[in-house]
Amino acid sequence: MRFDIFTLFPESLLSYLNASILKKAAQRNLLEVRLHNIRHWAIDRHRMTDDLPYGGGGGMVMKPEPIFSAVEGVLGKPPTCPVVLLTPQGRLFTQKVAAELAAYPRLALLCGHYEGVDERVREHLVTDEISIGDYVLTGGELAALVVVDAVARLIPGVLGDPHGAQQDSHATGLLEHPHYTRPPEFRGWRVPDVLLSGDHARIARWRQEQSLERTRQRRPDMMEEGR
Ligand code: ADE
Repeated sequence: MRFDIFTLFPESLLSYLNASILKKAAQRNLLEVRLHNIRHWAIDRHRMTDDLPYGGGGGMVMKPEPIFSAVEGVLGKPPTCPVVLLTPQGRLFTQKVAAELAAYPRLALLCGHYEGVDERVREHLVTDEISIGDYVLTGGELAALVVVDAVARLIPGVLGDPHGAQQDSHATGLLEHPHYTRPPEFRGWRVPDVLLSGDHARIARWRQEQSLERTRQRRPDMMEEGR
């Protein structure tokens, strides 16, 4: 799967993309992430990418020309894949949305900054708008990383365990059961006996009960919605 990320701050994304699972996924050609600096498509003398808002008020607005030029220059006119704007006004990103996006071979992510992007970008270029939560970040870069990460781990082969993503909290509609590893006792705190019993049916039952109980306690909204 390929992501094209359009941003004013490509360097802010690099360290995360070049670490751990995402790096391995790229090395194994399961994932390709290309970063495009919108400023390179700004043609005026000062390479301006933002300007004052019409009608007054504070803050700056990202200009439409460099964004259209960048996205169309890389993806064609009109773009041949979904163009997703990261914005607090978008639809809420959930595991279900991650699975939906993972079905595309290619996605463009557009990171907003300042007060946002000129409305014509949303109306005539962007095909989807996503928010990662009800809070406001200084830009869309962290949100783009969240989307890449959550989608990438759904690509077959990216996780070490081929069934890893199917067991996740949220993938099953419930939170996951607790996990333990060695040692069996640490500072007097013991791993539950059932997990050491070797009885796989009992272990599966215990995990299911724990999963239900955790979800009921921590996220009753998930039980009610049957998500
Ligand atoms: N940009 C700023 N805040 C954001 C959010 N919550 N989600 C996505 N993009 C954003």
